[in-house]
Amino acid sequence: MKRKLVVLTGAGISAESGLKTFRDADGLWEGYDVMEVATPEAWNRNPELVQRFYNERRKQVLQAKPNEAHLALAALQNDFDVEIITQNIDDLHERAGSEKVTHLHGVITYAQSSKNADLIYPIDGEEIKMDEVCELGSPLRPHVVWFGEAVPMMEVAAKICRKADVFVLIGSSLAVYPAAGLVHYVSNQIPKFIIDPKIPDLDGLNHLTKIQKNATEGVRDLIKYLKI
Ligand code: APR
Repeated sequence: MKRKLVVLTGAGISAESGLKTFRDADGLWEGYDVMEVATPEAWNRNPELVQRFYNERRKQVLQAKPNEAHLALAALQNDFDVEIITQNIDDLHERAGSEKVTHLHGVITYAQSSKNADLIYPIDGEEIKMDEVCELGSPLRPHVVWFGEAVPMMEVAAKICRKADVFVLIGSSLAVYPAAGLVHYVSNQIPKFIIDPKIPDLDGLNHLTKIQKNATEGVRDLIKYLKI
């Protein structure tokens, strides 16, 4: 049976595909304070702004391509039972060919009902229009988890982390909970790695083998460590 390789990814893995991280540059997300665009309050205050913002992000995601790191993780499925847990709302892991991808913060290529988060719909094209509604008649919003909202996939993700035989963290500052807490579900007995050009200074990461590199180069090193 193949060993279970669990990979927790953040914005850093998509940086080399041209998608910006959240906390690297000026503390803004594409010019906006996240609280202005990524909270239920922001949606209630100004749904047009929030919709337009995510329509723009969706266009960027659709134009971006998986990079060598996404592709190498997909190729590792030949040798490992690879489970990706991602905080990213892009679909680059799927497009690279990864078959088991758990999205903690939703996926921007889907819409959801603004009344019932369980009602999820594919988006036809790049935009959600303001007059599009769910089957309950409520406006459609992006299928993303905003600050202050529940993270329904946390339990599933925690279960996956508990079963890991090898664990890898790539490109996340681990600044956002509950996702950041996932590292604590991983056994102390297994090999663990972190790939990041700027390794976050956090106690929970002391026992991880540090690969202080960009994702694409770092994944090449990881494969050497895994000796396959
Ligand atoms: N390769 C690997 N890592 C990189 C690269 C790269 N080329 N470039 C930057 N990084 C690293 C940074 O050093 C940083 O540690 O990626 C990390 C990005 O951290 P954040 O911007 O905080 O992104 P993330 O951890 O994914 O944010 C978590 O915050 O706003 C929310 O919901 C949003 O899912 C997101 C969550």
